[in-house]
Amino acid sequence: MTLRDDKIYILGIESSCDETAVSILSWVYKNKHKAKPKDLALAGQSKLCSDLVFSQIDQHAAFGGVVPEIAARAHLDIMDQLIKNALQEANISLEEIHAIAVTAGPGLIGGLMVGLMSAKTLALIHNKPLIGVNHLEGHALTPRLTDQISYPYLLLLVSGGHTQILLIKGLGDYERLATTIDDAIGEAFDKSAKLLGLGYPGGPKVEQAAISGDPKRFDLPRPLKGKAELDMSFSGLKTAVRRQVEQLEAVTEQDIADLCASFQLAVSDVICNRISRAMALFEERYNEAHPTIVVAGGVAANKTIRGDLDKLCHAQDKNWRMIAPPLNLCTDNAAMIAWAGLEHYLSKTKFDTNHGLEIEARSRWPLDEQANNLVGHGRRGAKV
Ligand code: KG4
Ligand code: ZN
Repeated sequence: MTLRDDKIYILGIESSCDETAVSILSWVYKNKHKAKPKDLALAGQSKLCSDLVFSQIDQHAAFGGVVPEIAARAHLDIMDQLIKNALQEANISLEEIHAIAVTAGPGLIGGLMVGLMSAKTLALIHNKPLIGVNHLEGHALTPRLTDQISYPYLLLLVSGGHTQILLIKGLGDYERLATTIDDAIGEAFDKSAKLLGLGYPGGPKVEQAAISGDPKRFDLPRPLKGKAELDMSFSGLKTAVRRQVEQLEAVTEQDIADLCASFQLAVSDVICNRISRAMALFEERYNEAHPTIVVAGGVAANKTIRGDLDKLCHAQDKNWRMIAPPLNLCTDNAAMIAWAGLEHYLSKTKFDTNHGLEIEARSRWPLDEQANNLVGHGRRGAKV
């Protein structure tokens, strides 16, 4: 791109799961008369002019999980109004937008198609470039928007549908170091909460119940902990919770609290064990004075996990730091899609004239296309 315009506006659209989100991001290049810096995106000043999220949680709660058909219809009901509201809040018109960034995958195909068709229509009518963004890339690049983190860094992506440790080397250059071989962590939280009768989504409920619990009362397994590979497994943990419940005669509130605390400790133990190995691997490859581990995704809201990762950083010889984006940018949102769109926009010198009409919705779209597709991993595929 040329830096003729000193202010760039990107419209971001997200609809891959159960949140309809629209955001407008502005970016101003600070020193445009100097030579183009190596990391152009961080050389500008960015601001979220609007960041709207419409959650469908109430519509899915009764079913104990996301219902794809309901999700797609709900996106359709609200999308156009949300785009209008986002423009109004940012006080700009579509004409002033430089590019439209939309989640093209991975996720629930019906929802993705609603977002993509809305974005294509706007791009075509208003003659704007369209950028199809990988939802996982949105999560992966968020710390650059919130904390100006430069490449490379380690990322722990933990949500309802994905559990991955990634090496973020540069824009479009991602290496998956580890994944779950079965359930995602958020999924394990949700399923355990369900069998304890705590409701959906389970993560916050488990965390709340764990506050008054004894994390040492139940000795739950730490699957794959200590294994040389970095992959993780959480379905055994959930099964262990079920077995413990079955062994109790009458399940009291204290039992539930103790089970939640024990479960949370086991999850955090496994994560920290894997992350410490990933840190060692990072140090072998890069000589960063201040290496960074970023934790993102809905599970990153968990204070025990955050606290334990922070402690792990402090226990290292190197000056590691942990960054967790603010909660509203950890869970699904369109600001992260707008930011990833901005990074692609800045990295391109020209855009095709087809307004991205060839972009397809992809229910599966790994960030690291070279990584092995592990059996069972990301089965749910939608909650990311
Ligand atoms: O990223 P996210 O909002 O949505 C997608 O998965 O795309 O993540 C939702 C997941 C759910 O499984 C939820 O139970 C979990 O994140 N979660 C938590 C907490 N808050 C949300 N898990 C543990 N502790 C929490 N405080
Ligand atoms: Zn997500």
